[in-house]
Amino acid sequence: MNVSEALQTRYSVRGYLDEPVPDTVIREVFDTARLAASNTNTQPWHVAVVSGDACDRLRDELCALFDAGAEQDRGFPGGARLEGVYLDRQRACGFGYYATMGVERKDMEGRARIARKNFELFGAPHVAFFSMPRTCGYPQAVDLGILLQTVMLVMVEKGIGCIAQGSLAGYPGPVREIADLPEENEILFGLSFGYEDTEAHINTVRMDRAALDEIATFTS
Ligand SMILES: Cc1cc2nc3c(=O)[nH]c(=O)nc-3n(C[C@H](O)[C@H](O)[C@H](O)COP(=O)(O)O)c2cc1C
Repeated sequence: MNVSEALQTRYSVRGYLDEPVPDTVIREVFDTARLAASNTNTQPWHVAVVSGDACDRLRDELCALFDAGAEQDRGFPGGARLEGVYLDRQRACGFGYYATMGVERKDMEGRARIARKNFELFGAPHVAFFSMPRTCGYPQAVDLGILLQTVMLVMVEKGIGCIAQGSLAGYPGPVREIADLPEENEILFGLSFGYEDTEAHINTVRMDRAALDEIATFTS
């Protein structure tokens, strides 16, 4: 598989088999991905992988906070205010996802059930938390995004499904307790991963992309 094929075949996986990825394979993924580029080679990232019983405990604690309606407490401020085509795309993403799952736009309970799946880690046997020192800013956040994409592509190559989750920055408390996160770091996003349950309906969700000429200009 080449990089273009990995990009063309990757999609977010939201349903997993109860079958762990061997430790050696997980280490290989991150060992390859750490070759990603970063601003002035600072490599400002840290990845904390959680598996097995620890992953189940974390899932339970995150769901308990979600069920209690606990206020989210992000280390880095949440998303920007989206406008125009970006807001349209964000809405299309949410509504496309709900439609595939048979949830009406006005069905707030159904939407909450879907939101909860984030904290269930979509049933994945592993989750990785991507963090950087709280003194870092947007150039370093870009670096973490590059690392994330690199990890996702290496996972595709190895037949591992994954999903990036900004939502997993919302409840850092249990993550700090259970994962081995540097004290000075804050979480940007999580990545649940494992082997895809190809029978799961949720994995039929597909998102389209804007055409090339909508996102790029070429001048000569
Ligand atoms: C940084 C980042 C954070 C994301 N956070 C979430 C999330 O919290 N929950 C979720 O269901 N999907 C999340 N996604 C997945 C996106 O919705 C998904 O990548 C996008 O809709 C394109 O779909 P695709 O990955 O299937 O191509 C996130 C993706 C990225 C890159």
